[in-house]
Amino acid sequence: MTNEIDCAQPFSPKGHGFAADVLDGLSRAEKRLSCLYFYDAVGSELFDEITRLPDYYPTRVETDILSAHGEEMLDGAGEDAALVEFGSGSSRKTEILLERAPSLALYAPIDVCASALEKARARLSARFPHLRVSPIVADFSRPVALPDDLASRRRIGFFPGSTIGNFAPEEARGLLLAMRILLGPGGRLIVGVDLKKEPSRFIAAYNDAHGVTAAFNLNLLARINRELGGGFDLSGFGHQAIYDERAGRVEMRLVSRRRQTATIRGRDFAFSRGEAIHTEDCYKYAVGEFRAAARGAGWAPGRVWTDADALFSVHELRAPEAAQVG
Ligand code: SAH
Ligand code: AVI
Repeated sequence: MTNEIDCAQPFSPKGHGFAADVLDGLSRAEKRLSCLYFYDAVGSELFDEITRLPDYYPTRVETDILSAHGEEMLDGAGEDAALVEFGSGSSRKTEILLERAPSLALYAPIDVCASALEKARARLSARFPHLRVSPIVADFSRPVALPDDLASRRRIGFFPGSTIGNFAPEEARGLLLAMRILLGPGGRLIVGVDLKKEPSRFIAAYNDAHGVTAAFNLNLLARINRELGGGFDLSGFGHQAIYDERAGRVEMRLVSRRRQTATIRGRDFAFSRGEAIHTEDCYKYAVGEFRAAARGAGWAPGRVWTDADALFSVHELRAPEAAQVG
């Protein structure tokens, strides 16, 4: 094992695992659950469905940007380079990069969802027989050990989907710093970042007409019922997504439709009518704001690719050749 990264994860109060984090999050005056726990097998399928919705522009637009500029993003990578992806999910976007950089020999996708990793591994191994795929089931916001065979290779990080937006700005800076250390001196990070824009676009994207985002959000309670024997009545909660313009973030909640109590592992959690569980924040950036955050984490911001409507951005960050750890 070669390297470790360590920093806070979004809204996972203690990082003690699903049960402990759920009990802790629901005991707070303002109840919250970590968005990390959206992604069990069911949640990952629902997220994939979200990415195909016409209103959920981030996937479509980022995919177009990668298709148009993927080759430039990986130029000069060299034959010994390895691609390390953070929160790889279905690895559909990765496929676009791999098509454009056939010399890459090793791909290490990191995700908390084992089933998504296995499906992606099987598909990519069949499609790119020369490529070694080494999936890592881990929380990338905590120390991650990379396989030994990455040690001698130049590492290119890939962090698409604006998953960085699920971290508060301070956490995001910490995460970017940890990724710089993990990727090593001379490393590069290609990161997708959703841009600030007219709020109505966010409202449409996170309150889709088909109810898929609502199902994705509610799956968190269904997962608590499945895995922890929880007693949530899903019909008693509604999906809510708002855009807080001052904070620059979309906030997702599950709102109790009535006064009720849910029992989890023998503990009762009381909800008043209208009381919310905060489940996700999705921070949006201006291009300059993100570059400043990256600089604050010791990266040299490089090229930025956006679409004609300035909906989404993909950033190239470069680590100094002789970066000092710390
Ligand atoms: N990269 C894909 C998927 C984005 S969805 C895309 O751009 O479409 C976010 C993915 O990151 C999910 O697959 C989820 O399981 C994973 N994820 C979120 N937080 C994570 C964390 N802290 N550690 C590891 N994986 C995480
Ligand atoms: C993965 N993550 C960046 C998505 C987002 O847009 O924040 C998750 C998501 N939540 C609701 N819809 C999609």
